[in-house]
Amino acid sequence: MTLRVGVVGWPVAHSRSPAIFGEWFARHGIDARYETIPVPPGEADAFFATFPADLHGCNVTIPHKGVAARHARLEGAAARLGVANTVWREGGALHATSSDGEGFIRSLDEARPGWADVPGVAVVLGAGGAAVSVADALAERGHALVIANRTTEKAEELARAVGGTAALWDDLPDALSGAALLVNATSLGMGNNPPLCLDLAPLPASATVADIVYHPLETPLLAAARVRGLAVVDGLGMLLHQATVGFEKWFGIRPAVDETLRRAALAP
Ligand code: ATR
Repeated sequence: MTLRVGVVGWPVAHSRSPAIFGEWFARHGIDARYETIPVPPGEADAFFATFPADLHGCNVTIPHKGVAARHARLEGAAARLGVANTVWREGGALHATSSDGEGFIRSLDEARPGWADVPGVAVVLGAGGAAVSVADALAERGHALVIANRTTEKAEELARAVGGTAALWDDLPDALSGAALLVNATSLGMGNNPPLCLDLAPLPASATVADIVYHPLETPLLAAARVRGLAVVDGLGMLLHQATVGFEKWFGIRPAVDETLRRAALAP
């Protein structure tokens, strides 16, 4: 029987996940289908409360990560954050976790082995949903964190939640001078959004610059970091690695993230 999995969101047609999972199904000979499942905001509660009997499991994207979390037994980051992006069946109940932060860490570990041994703080830019996951995962790994965000109150709130420090945007040069890692977790640089304009000169030569934006793959921030000779990590790795968590929960195999998968995810 073909197992049905998919991603629940609104809108969701643009998702790269069917391409990612399709590549893994072919590799591992798994008889499954990965669909985009559009659920309007007013219907999300009912969807997760009466989870379709023929759905083996699902990913969840904006704006339903909070709703999904209210209908499942939460594990890991989902229990800490109250949002879920990966739902599976276990012992007759729905279970869920949030794999974005884990995906970010796995991506860093893979692209830049040893990054965690470089002394210095991790500077996270942003305080939205993506930044919360990234900051939570870094804090879980024991990294000292500095959070900066356009809206300072949100940076302060996130810093309090993860045991880090909030910095004013204008004070970033100071924070960057002691950074081992700089992460753009804002939506700046994505698609037609304005670029993230930041002077990278204060960063130590040993620092890594990561962007969670993957469209475009080479953001202006990463291009500037490359010009400075810094190690860079693009956002596609996070997308691919967060997906490995669902695949493993649903099919019992940890799938590989490699160049072929990156190409499959980016194919038009
Ligand atoms: P996501 O779930 O992808 O993180 P979000 O919750 O809307 O999306 O958060 C977007 C992040 O990008 C926020 O940190 C936002 O800053 P604010 O909290 O001040 O809104 C940041 N962001 C978006 N547009 C921005 C801009 N033009 N300049 C600076 N920061 C911006």
